[in-house]
Amino acid sequence: MADSLIDLRSDTVTRPTPGMREAMATAEVGDDVYGEDPTVTALEAEVAALFGHEAALFAPSGSMANQIALQLVVPPANELLCDADAHVVTYEIGAAAAYGGISSRTWPAVGADIDPDVIAAMIRPDGYFAVPTRAIAVEQTHNRGGGGVIPLATLRELRRVADDAQLALHCDGARIWHAHVADGVPLTEYGQIFDTMSVCLSKGLGAPVGSLVVGSAEKIERARLIRKRMGGGMRQVGILAAAGRYALAHHVERLAEDHAKAARLAEAIAPFGVLATTARTNIVPLDLSKSPLDAHELAAAAREAGLLISVLGPRTARLVTHMDVDDAGIDRAIEVLTGVLRA
Ligand SMILES: Cc1ncc(COP(=O)(O)O)c(C=O)c1O
Repeated sequence: MADSLIDLRSDTVTRPTPGMREAMATAEVGDDVYGEDPTVTALEAEVAALFGHEAALFAPSGSMANQIALQLVVPPANELLCDADAHVVTYEIGAAAAYGGISSRTWPAVGADIDPDVIAAMIRPDGYFAVPTRAIAVEQTHNRGGGGVIPLATLRELRRVADDAQLALHCDGARIWHAHVADGVPLTEYGQIFDTMSVCLSKGLGAPVGSLVVGSAEKIERARLIRKRMGGGMRQVGILAAAGRYALAHHVERLAEDHAKAARLAEAIAPFGVLATTARTNIVPLDLSKSPLDAHELAAAAREAGLLISVLGPRTARLVTHMDVDDAGIDRAIEVLTGVLRA
């Protein structure tokens, strides 16, 4: 990727900073499959404590962390409820069914605007005549839902729904940090609501790789076994855990800057009628249904002018701000987009 291109496709495109590389280079390591990598152990303890949970487990990707968590809370041939746009059923390539034998049923895609009553009405009880629901998964922030943040009050209401039906609640918290920074909700408050969480260090926090499953000590012990079965046992992986620890120490509070950049981008293109919703965090969703350009045409024209954006559908696209695009880069992106949309 030429450095002159401004890349707003995703917040996963960031590269480790010199400080992060230094932390990686000097990390103490050991064989983590033997449980002997001190940097991994420290990261796991730190993340568990951040969410007020007993334990956490380092995993190579957000997808694997989600799928380990789902296998913890939904036995084979039982059901998961989530929304139709959830990452777990959109981008994880059928993993819940393929690896966990999990049957997934979805509520219509509403991003972060979930209605606990609608979800409650979908729950199927135990019995031999229907697939029993065992867990509900939500996404915070919601990726395809334009970075939307589910309000804490709604999550508490959903917890009540789950408790009434004795279901587990999972959070795909790949960008839970963004929700924490946007709404000021302490991470421990989020932690209290969920039985299992997956959180990512490589979505906006700048680490090259790494996610964690968070839960009770008993669940994380089982998670370790599931991770190994899925081929996710890693050896001297403290090098990567060090990047994650560095990211947590240095790159969480600065997400406010990425949110401000997204708001500035959204404001600048609002007059062109292509915004899908207000940008609340670092994702700016574009709805091109009334635009003369479709998503591929917009992306191609932007690329020609040095800006990369994501195409999500024929008439939907997405811009994501992150630490590798500074204010000058956002100015340039605004120039490109307004130029293309005006033409
Ligand atoms: C909401 C959400 N969950 C999970 C993931 C999966 O992460 P990974 O790409 O590390 O598997 C992503 C990736 O972008 C995501 O946006």
